[in-house]
Amino acid sequence: MNKSVEAPELQTVSRLLPEFTEMPGGLLPLLHAVQDALGFIPASAVPLVAEAMNLSRAEVHGVITYYHFFRSKAPGKHVVQVCRAESCQACGGEQLLSEMEQALGCKLHETSADGLYSLEPVYCLGLCASSPAVQIDDKLYARMDSVQLKRVVAELGSHA
Ligand code: FES
Repeated sequence: MNKSVEAPELQTVSRLLPEFTEMPGGLLPLLHAVQDALGFIPASAVPLVAEAMNLSRAEVHGVITYYHFFRSKAPGKHVVQVCRAESCQACGGEQLLSEMEQALGCKLHETSADGLYSLEPVYCLGLCASSPAVQIDDKLYARMDSVQLKRVVAELGSHA
């Protein structure tokens, strides 16, 4: 692994640790903070987090892999989250996912070859009355259909 790429990430993790080490149940908030700061939780951060939180590496790794929200790899430039929960499934979620995979050039849980998009599942975005719902980066989209999807993807691609 390239240490020059890894070092700034570990510095960020080290900087975040003190706020959480004394906090009861501080592991999850710490992992969220790391992902907020870096976009993912590098494997190289696991020993650092484990030592600081007085846990085993296996325990930390287990928590990261248990929650689908946590990423172990850097995401694409745009993170596209498609709702896979019940209401969105009942309103064409499968068809929408298939169209998204085609439009973005990657499958669920993958990043497109150009590094522009990561496609991830999410389980309810609080927009059930306006299903199907999608979140792209920080922006929510309700009643997403193929027309809106093509427009949004074209817009994102033009800012690449
Ligand atoms: S089920 Fe998709 S937003 Fe709630």
